[in-house]
Parts: sequence; C-alpha cells; structure tokens
Amino acid sequence: MNTQTLCVLGGTGFVGRHLVTRLANQGHRVKVLTRHPQRHREIEILPGTTLVGADTHDPTALQEQFAGCDAVINLVGVLHEYPKQTFRAVHVELPGKIMEACRVAGVKRLLHMSALHADAAQGPSQYLFTKGEGEQAVLAARDLAVTVFKPSIIFGPDDNFYNQFAGMLKFSLVLPLACPNSRFAPVYVEDVVAAFERALHDKSTIGQSYELCGPQVFTFKEIVEDIARMLGLKRWVVGLPDGLARLQGKIFGMLPVKIFTTDNYLSLQVDSVCTCNSLEALGITPHSVESIMPTHFADRTQRRRYDALRREARRN
Ligand SMILES: NC(=O)c1ccc[n+]([C@@H]2O[C@H](COP(=O)([O-])OP(=O)(O)OC[C@H]3O[C@@H](n4cnc5c(N)ncnc54)[C@H](OP(=O)(O)O)[C@@H]3O)[C@@H](O)[C@H]2O)c1
Repeated sequence: MNTQTLCVLGGTGFVGRHLVTRLANQGHRVKVLTRHPQRHREIEILPGTTLVGADTHDPTALQEQFAGCDAVINLVGVLHEYPKQTFRAVHVELPGKIMEACRVAGVKRLLHMSALHADAAQGPSQYLFTKGEGEQAVLAARDLAVTVFKPSIIFGPDDNFYNQFAGMLKFSLVLPLACPNSRFAPVYVEDVVAAFERALHDKSTIGQSYELCGPQVFTFKEIVEDIARMLGLKRWVVGLPDGLARLQGKIFGMLPVKIFTTDNYLSLQVDSVCTCNSLEALGITPHSVESIMPTHFADRTQRRRYDALRREARRN
C-alpha cells in the first residue's frame, strides 16, 4: 500500500478522530487542520500526524496547508446554525474554498463528507439543502478527482447521538421524543472510515458518491428505547405528535446552546435510510449496533459503579 501525505479538515471531530487514527496507523502522513489546536493536542500522539491551528475559512491558509499534499479530506459539517456559523458558510462556501485551494496548491484528490439525502433541489431542511449544494459543487469539479460519502446517522462508543440520548435517559424517567417514527440505518464509524480509506487507494471510486448505511433500520423511538435497554434503565419514551414536535424545535431552537431546532425537525421528515447501500460494494461488511454498543454501555455503567464505590471508600 502506498503511503500518502493527507490534509484533513474536521479531523478533530467524532468521525475525524477515527479516520485520522486509522490513516496514521497505516503509515500515512496526516495533517489535521483545526481552529482550536489547544483542545486537541492528543491527536499529535499519533505517528506521523501534525495538528495545525488555522482559520479553515481563510483561502490563503488553506492553500499554504494543502501544498505538498496528495489528497485533501473534508469532514467539516454542522447540525446547528449560530450567528458566526451559517450552514451556507460551512457546507457550501467552505467546499468552494477547499476546491480552489486544491487547484492553487496542485492537489488533485478530494474526499468529501456529505450526508444521506443531502439534496440541492429538494432538501427539506437547510442542513440537507446546503449539504446537497456543497456535494453537487464538488462532484461537478471536472479538474479534481472527487469522491463523496453520504452516511445515515453514525454510531460508535464516542459518538454524539447515542451518548447524548444515554445522558438524557439517565436523568429522566419520561423522554418526550419528536418525530418518533423517522427511520434511520445507523452505520458504524469504523465502517465509514474504512470507506474513506478504500477510496484513497481505489481509483474506481473517483467521481462516485456513496450512500453508507448500517445493516438494520430502526425508528427513532426504537433507537432511544434500545439505548435505555442497553443501559439497563426502565424508561418511558413518548412520541410527540407532529404539532408538538414542531413546537419543541421552535422553543429549543431559541436556546443559546442548540440541541434540537426547527431545521433538525425538518431533516427528520426524510427517512435516513439508503436507497442503495454502498458499503458491501466497497468490500466492507457493515457492523450492527448490537455488536458494538451494548459492550460500550456495559463498560460505561461498570466504570461509573466502580468510580462511585471508590468515592464511597474514600469517604469512609
Ligand atoms: N455524525 C453523524 O452521525 C453524521 C451523519 C451524517 C453525516 N455526517 C457528517 O460527517 C461529518 C463529520 O461529522 P462528525 O459527527 O464527526 O462532526 P463533529 O464531531 O461535530 O466534528 C465536526 C468537525 O468540523 C469542524 N468544524 C465544526 N464547525 C466548524 C466551522 N464552523 N468551521 C470550520 N470547521 C468546523 C470541527 O473542527 P475544529 O473545531 O477542530 O476546527 C470538527 O473537527 C460532518 O460533515 C457531518 O455533517 C455526520
């Protein structure tokens, strides 16, 4: 396998940490660009990996950092808008700047992370609509060798989704849930990063867009109930009627820190299920939630009990 020099944007996030670890362990030289280098120093422990503090929206910084790289990987994406972080700036303008910087720096290969059902024509939410625009623009760049990935919700021991609901379930006996019947095909983070790795070595992936899904489909309510079961908690997950779900999005969307917004509600109107799952075609057998998450939650629960016992012992 040939080793390459790679520049990763979004390499400090959930998917990014898994991808960078895998690429570094395979001997690639990986440069991770971040706006907050002081928060992610642990990444530098990986062999052949450099963490670079940079304004990733500055075209000149991008050109400088891309120079000498064989490929650029863009994982940057956001679920919520803030005054200084619009969907358009992150999902449309940034990919445009990345493509331009690739051209100036002479980088031909670009791997781009989109999302399942991102759609520049019919995206029901600004998240899916702008993701679709960014994806369309990179795929249209005939002078670059582009591959696009479109996963459903991604799970793993350190994910945001399963762990966020695990946290909520711990503290509430009843959990009101918006859009309980929306469907997902959760895909394991290591399967997603295996797809990126495959694309780096396989020229037939150039110009392609890959939908990535796990082996099973669940409703939102089934997922949250399953998390409670894995945690050994008896909880009541109550599906909200549509009007209340909308209202929840509106009210939560006004909070300074966002966990659920009207745009998230609109994204949930489309089932996050593949039309054609590409994992098998890429030679990757998808892992089930059941094969990964119960062990993680059991370890977590055991660690908590152990910590509580130690605290108790110290007090006595
Ligand atoms: N997780 C999922 O279930 C899922 C499902 C489908 C698609 N995706 C897509 O997969 C990608 C990675 O997801 P993730 O879960 O790993 O995300 P994440 O954990 O939230 O990480 C996001 C990364 O993007 C960077 N970033 C965030 N806001 C930014 C901004 N305004 N400007 C520039 N950089 C910014 C962060 O880098 P610094 O803060 O270090 O600069 C961070 O490394 C995203 O494009 C996401 O849309 C994720």
